[in-house]
Amino acid sequence: MSHVLLKPLLARKSPPLRGRLSVPGDKSISHRALLFGALSIGRTRIDGLLEAEDVINTARSVTALGAPAKKTGNSWEVTGRGVGGLQQPASPLDFGNSGTGTRLMMGVLAGHDFPVEMIGDASLSRRPMARVLDPLKTMGLEVQSDNGDRLPLTVRGMSDLVPIEYELPVPSAQVKSAILLAGLHAAGETTVIEAEPTRDHTERMLRFFGADVSATPDGNGKTRICVTGNPLLQGRDVKVPADPSSAAFLIAAAVIVPGSEVTIDGVLINPTRTGFYETLREMGADVTFENQREEGGEPVANIRARHSALKGVSVPPERAPSMIDEYPVLACVAAFASGETAMHGLAELRVKESDRLTATADGLNANGVATRIEGDTLVVIGGNGKVPGGGLVATHLDHRIAMAFLTLGLASDKPVTVDDIAIIATSFPEFIGLMEGLGAVLGPVPGSSCGAAG
Ligand code: S3P
Repeated sequence: MSHVLLKPLLARKSPPLRGRLSVPGDKSISHRALLFGALSIGRTRIDGLLEAEDVINTARSVTALGAPAKKTGNSWEVTGRGVGGLQQPASPLDFGNSGTGTRLMMGVLAGHDFPVEMIGDASLSRRPMARVLDPLKTMGLEVQSDNGDRLPLTVRGMSDLVPIEYELPVPSAQVKSAILLAGLHAAGETTVIEAEPTRDHTERMLRFFGADVSATPDGNGKTRICVTGNPLLQGRDVKVPADPSSAAFLIAAAVIVPGSEVTIDGVLINPTRTGFYETLREMGADVTFENQREEGGEPVANIRARHSALKGVSVPPERAPSMIDEYPVLACVAAFASGETAMHGLAELRVKESDRLTATADGLNANGVATRIEGDTLVVIGGNGKVPGGGLVATHLDHRIAMAFLTLGLASDKPVTVDDIAIIATSFPEFIGLMEGLGAVLGPVPGSSCGAAG
């Protein structure tokens, strides 16, 4: 879908945020549960699926490919077709804003011998796909595009792909996952080598569905991830834990708004996803993981955060994959710290839903926060508890930019305006309601007819 009409919103200095709440299911795990359910024999039941535009587009896509995904009561059910058993869809598959849906589906379609046109919104149509398509082409995928490696494009796979051994040139769970998914349709072993650990939900969940997947150190600090082709995947019951990347905005708000205390229940704390929380603690934030336990094969905890005095830190590049989606909100938190926060190794931020490195720096500058971009490093000069605010932030069809800067506005001196909140529905439609439930002051932009919260 497209977001033509901009829907602005304003965030004001708020009273202490207080409460205990849940946030919706993890986006990465939700996409995978639908896709793996479609490739399995029998029924997959998913509890806690994230019902946001990105994931709904994946649900529509698997349905269009002959594996119906529908909501029944409080759960979702996918009727799977087995590995290689999907059917040609009647029309193009529309992935909206979602890089994850698109790239993982490319791996799935690589194993199917029919053409499929893949389309998306303006943001998705600007994002590079060669990182996935190049290795998939060596396995046998054919690609047609008038737009280089960008959407819209048509892919055509084949039922017996060639297994490959591929070292990731960029730390990307989407690329890793696409190759592993294509490996399901290749005789023998397909291997992905990663130098830096990225989120491992594909490996965990493929094993849970019955695939043979191993991850072993190669002796040189890298990991070899191998999948054996042509497995019999069996439909499963999946429980999706709460999304740590969504929780991050509410936790950040609690840390920067004086007097706040917020607890979020049942959040995924897989170590490949918790870099943001580790960094907050290094900055001096009172953030704790309580009642740590395992649910549905993933570690979860209740995360509690209190308002804290923060100090600037240096965030090492090797931590980037474990907090890749959290840099915009971390940069907004860093604006309240004393001293400088330097975030290193951010090259991948340039190819997210927007150029997040530039969008984050621009948003901070518009609100009186000084920044420096030095190569792939973003430096934020903290205001020791004070951020002027008063600026207008351009979201560039990027949900995380919108949510990060609404969070900033809850503790800045003057209100912060975000130019488009409609895009938040791609990942976290409940964001505004949950923030308001904690006491956050969000509201229409004076003089604007379309700024109502909702
Ligand atoms: C995701 C991987 C990350 C992340 C995205 C979700 C996934 O992207 O930014 O939001 O579910 O695999 P990259 O693999 O491009 O780093």
